[in-house]
Amino acid sequence: MYKILAKDNIAPNIDKYIIAAPEVAAKTKPGQFVVLRLHEKGERIPISISDWDKEAGTITLIVQAVGHTTEQLAAMGVGDNILDLLGPLGQPAIIEPVGTVACVAGGVGTAIIYPEARRHREVGNRVLTLVGARNRECLFYQEELAATSDRVLVATDDGSYGHKGFVTDLLKQVIDDGTHLDHVIAIGPIPMMQAVAELTKRHEIKTTVSLNPIMMDGTGMCGACRVRVGDEIKFCCTDGPEFDAHLVDFASLLRRSRLYERTGFKAAIPAEDKAEGEAKGGECRCHG
Ligand SMILES: Cc1cc2nc3c(=O)[nH]c(=O)nc-3n(C[C@H](O)[C@H](O)[C@H](O)COP(=O)(O)OP(=O)(O)OC[C@H]3O[C@@H](n4cnc5c(N)ncnc54)[C@H](O)[C@@H]3O)c2cc1C
Ligand code: FES
Repeated sequence: MYKILAKDNIAPNIDKYIIAAPEVAAKTKPGQFVVLRLHEKGERIPISISDWDKEAGTITLIVQAVGHTTEQLAAMGVGDNILDLLGPLGQPAIIEPVGTVACVAGGVGTAIIYPEARRHREVGNRVLTLVGARNRECLFYQEELAATSDRVLVATDDGSYGHKGFVTDLLKQVIDDGTHLDHVIAIGPIPMMQAVAELTKRHEIKTTVSLNPIMMDGTGMCGACRVRVGDEIKFCCTDGPEFDAHLVDFASLLRRSRLYERTGFKAAIPAEDKAEGEAKGGECRCHG
């Protein structure tokens, strides 16, 4: 059992949870996530570890309520217990001194990029953080990002704060202004990460994205999270979640996530994707 020690609403439908999980906090590195299950009949969902405190034995999760399980979590409060919490899972982000790094975040991706921006600063990189949100109310972690970045630029869809438009406009401006970027990290909705990848590919800037496909077990057993990266099929949960943005097949990633939205999980998996999973070595149990 993992107790919720604190809970704050930080933006519409987005809550910050501090959870007692000493074994997870002791081992977490930026870029990793947990898979949690709220109760015996609950589904497993992956959530990134946004912060952690080894001494206090706590982890911080920032969760946007978008559906069944995240809404059940939103209904829980301080003192309630999460039944299972498995982690830290996934490969830690590769963070080394390279020069100037742009951390580009959209929506809840802001929560995921924060520990990475902080670590980039710790290893001596110059950190530019670019954040996109629907409107001013949807922005969060602004003080934290200001403390871990050399510069923070914000874009909102409605112009209620910062630049009116997309976060990719900001990245284009930074590049057009002649700022030399050694590495770009983009975390957010798939179309945003794809747009960043297309832009930086034209400018030959090394770029990493953190992918968020549907996951089930989170341990490489089921094949649900497979993604095509270059000529290979990778499992996002064990090989990722971070990949070279210029090699990711965003079209198939988007197709799989949209099919799930329309038709439900089991019915959604196209034959070609099922074959990909089997080629990777999984027997694709989850897709029936
Ligand atoms: C590695 C990883 C890290 C993540 N980190 C975070 C995080 O830090 N904070 C956070 O709020 N969310 C995060 N997510 C997304 C989160 O897992 C989903 O929002 C959650 O599983 C939805 O579950 P649900 O039962 O509430 O929604 P469902 O009822 O299953 O679905 C509701 C809607 O959410 C969409 N959805 C379902 N799964 C995902 C997914 N994996 N990614 C995007 N949309 C999805 C569905 O297509 C549908 O439109 C992460 C996902 C991955 C793979
Ligand atoms: S969630 Fe990655 S293999 Fe099952």
